[in-house]
Amino acid sequence: MATLKSWTIKESDFPQTGDDLSKIKFLLRYAILAPSSWNAQPWLFKIHQRTIQLFHDTERLQGHRDPQGRENIISCGAALSNLEIALHHFGFQTQTEIMPPNSEENLLAQVTWTAGEASAKENKLFRAILQRHSYRKPFQEQEVPAEVIEHMQSAAQGGGCEFIPITCNSTQVALAGMISEGDKDLGADVQTRKEYAAWMRSSGLSGDGVPGYALADTNPVEGVLAPLTHRVFNYTDEFARSDRALTCAAPLLGVLTTPQDTPKDWVDCGRALERLLLSAAAQGVQASFLNQTVVVPELRQRLQRLLGLTDWPQIVLRFGYPTDEPVATPRRKLDDVLLIAP
Ligand SMILES: Cc1cc2nc3c(=O)[nH]c(=O)nc-3n(C[C@H](O)[C@H](O)[C@H](O)COP(=O)(O)O)c2cc1C
Repeated sequence: MATLKSWTIKESDFPQTGDDLSKIKFLLRYAILAPSSWNAQPWLFKIHQRTIQLFHDTERLQGHRDPQGRENIISCGAALSNLEIALHHFGFQTQTEIMPPNSEENLLAQVTWTAGEASAKENKLFRAILQRHSYRKPFQEQEVPAEVIEHMQSAAQGGGCEFIPITCNSTQVALAGMISEGDKDLGADVQTRKEYAAWMRSSGLSGDGVPGYALADTNPVEGVLAPLTHRVFNYTDEFARSDRALTCAAPLLGVLTTPQDTPKDWVDCGRALERLLLSAAAQGVQASFLNQTVVVPELRQRLQRLLGLTDWPQIVLRFGYPTDEPVATPRRKLDDVLLIAP
């Protein structure tokens, strides 16, 4: 599939003797492998001399589920993280400014780089960029060891973000109930259901959206038909049942939090999210998202109370060891998300 080509990038193809522009373009190919809400890839990059600017592409907003663009901005933060890790891996020193003052509309961050020596810094996270995929099926019945969780927690630190693992069984069961309530709340809204269906794809050929083969529990025919069947039928009760079961059986559940709930926190959260997911993937652990309780405002408050949080829950994740090979999803071509300033 042409658009899965993005995942065939090889470290050895780095244009060592090329000019700066070709090097930065190469490294941006790692940035765009980041996860994003509905695989909308709501990012645009502008290269200007030694600065790379990251913009939110607001045309890719899922306006009904996420009118403020919170999840899209988190997704952009994840792409920023990949870019920083790739730059460091190839020896560049970076300085990142989040939401620079008096800047252009939708500018989320700018990274200024200087050349340096290639180093082994962040090697494991860098290699995990190609290993990480969302895994929506049930995981193996195998616990995630405490030392793996500790690595994940420390990877997620930065900008006041914190990864909070859920270790109490009754909290896990309570959260499973709230997630299934969230599915029902969101599924009761026709516009939200239409928005979901609009981002589903029959195959990986389109360059964006979630292909049917990446959804949980679909056989190949169901996967191809998903964009159509989800427009016509209401699967809310099935989602609610299956998400409850997946949550109850999850070897590890956790919540990523931020101190406030501003666009800057969302960029920081995206950076922390990707480092968390890469740290997990580097240790053989994959994840999938269960964000319903954050998207529905009333459930978000209940989640805060359930976990005794003063900070803001942003992302809810399920982790474990996959039972088969995780699948890659397509990406837009780099040229479609790249602006080169004169
Ligand atoms: C902020 C954010 C929110 C997401 N929310 C969901 C979600 O609610 N349900 C889901 O199945 N996947 C969710 N995802 C995962 C994306 O669908 C996934 O990253 C995308 O399809 C690309 O696939 P990949 O992660 O395998 O590369 C979310 C991802 C991000 C970054």
